[in-house]
Amino acid sequence: MTTFALRSASPAKTRAEAVVVGVLPDGGLAAGAEDVAAAYGRKLSGLLATLGVKGRPGDVAKVPTHGTISSPLLVLVGLGDPVGPDDTVDAAAVRRAAGNAARAITNAASVALALPADTPELVRAVVEGYRLGGYSFTSYKSKPGTPTDPAEVVVLSPVARRSEVASALEPAQVVVDAVVATRDWVNTPPADLTPPKFADAIAAAVKAANKGLPAGGRVKATVLDEKRLAELGCGGILAVGSGSAEPPRLVELEYRPKDAVAHVALVGKGITFDSGGLWIKPAASMGTMKEDMAGAAAVVQATLAAARLGLPVRVSAYAALAENMIGEAAMRPGDVLTTYDGTTVEVSNTDAEGRLVLADALGRAVEAGPDVVVDIATLTGHMVLALGDRMAGVLGDDAVVEEVLSAGRAAGEDAWPMPIPDFFDSRIRSSTVADLAQYDGIRWGGGIFAAAFLREFTGGLPWAHLDIAGPTFNKGGANGHLVPGATGYGVATLVELLRARAEA
Ligand code: BES
Ligand code: MN
Ligand code: ZN
Repeated sequence: MTTFALRSASPAKTRAEAVVVGVLPDGGLAAGAEDVAAAYGRKLSGLLATLGVKGRPGDVAKVPTHGTISSPLLVLVGLGDPVGPDDTVDAAAVRRAAGNAARAITNAASVALALPADTPELVRAVVEGYRLGGYSFTSYKSKPGTPTDPAEVVVLSPVARRSEVASALEPAQVVVDAVVATRDWVNTPPADLTPPKFADAIAAAVKAANKGLPAGGRVKATVLDEKRLAELGCGGILAVGSGSAEPPRLVELEYRPKDAVAHVALVGKGITFDSGGLWIKPAASMGTMKEDMAGAAAVVQATLAAARLGLPVRVSAYAALAENMIGEAAMRPGDVLTTYDGTTVEVSNTDAEGRLVLADALGRAVEAGPDVVVDIATLTGHMVLALGDRMAGVLGDDAVVEEVLSAGRAAGEDAWPMPIPDFFDSRIRSSTVADLAQYDGIRWGGGIFAAAFLREFTGGLPWAHLDIAGPTFNKGGANGHLVPGATGYGVATLVELLRARAEA
């Protein structure tokens, strides 16, 4: 376990085994590294030229210092053009640089990060970047690799003693812990995270979190099994789970602090594996479908983070867990199911399963009487086609959509608004046998159709839907705070949204 500390020491005098500084495109060192630049003096530009470090994002070089500064190793990371709004340093650039630095440092027992860190946002970005960029999922490696994590990481900040800066470290760690836990669940092989196992893992995570929480601020977990789901009439979750040997679950969490000033419901899609069902996916599209439970993982971890942060906001969270498989009892195209709220739905595409489990979970969420409902789901490939694989689409009521986008900006997670034009209302009502059509065979606007369908189950409450099919799983290489595999996308945005509601 690495411990993190915040100090105002000089990066030229710290005895850490490695010191990280940022390089700007103009060839200078970024804020935070002034003392290092002074120690190198006029040698610096020649050194950077020799190394070919031009300050571009992704540039990394390691240089033995031979006594020029106290630390034996200098790590230079490109910041790119780090200018954000109002000429401030862009937290995203700092997060990315810290992530790239984390992977470059392989054998230092102590690390000092001398990146721009003179605001709470930047301190947070340094911590998030370093921890998330250095993340790897090793649970299934039979030979544990050489231990690479430093025992201590010191974030250097010229204003480390200013109270709002000093108090940024702890909450940043809580959010990173939640993102890491989400990544671990999403990366876990689907045979080891079936709905019953995932429900057990959630219950265990809640129990562990509660140990550190005050009596009035604990999280209550309720696991509804297939019997209970049948009694309640959760026809969507049951239908999706019917093709699997592993029964579905609905996990409900309640974080209800006495001082709550708001009540938010979070609903997550938890398909532990999505084969597509009888409408089976092409093999190439199935390879990463263990990721299809990321929304559920995100709502659970965001709720636990809210509790750990002691946010004065009540959170009711719903994780709808099912495995979408082929089996004798699997749902068929043409089947009609009845959701928790009594709506009948004609199933025509068994691969559009997410909206079916969410329909039940939204129905339960509405009953809790929240001020606002936010759902998060790896819902459609259409959203990936529309926005690419690094940002979520956000749909719903304008005010709540704006709230999510603003939380995403604060959290450093990119998201983009998408409309729900009126004519989608007739598309979701195009079934000739049931109240709603789950799918209408029209490819165009498939991500919007899904959102229009979900809206039917929100009881008219203020609502937004995040389609995270793109950014949930990084199929490319490491880049900044992202590494191959699960990204934990959405957790930080949800926590930020809860924080903003708590302050409103
Ligand atoms: N889980 C998938 C969506 C998905 C795609 C997640 C890519 C992550 C990456 C979802 O259940 C699905 O299969 N959606 C269909 C919807 C269609 C049948 C209306 C899709 O995207 O094609
Ligand atoms: Mn599907
Ligand atoms: Zn799915």
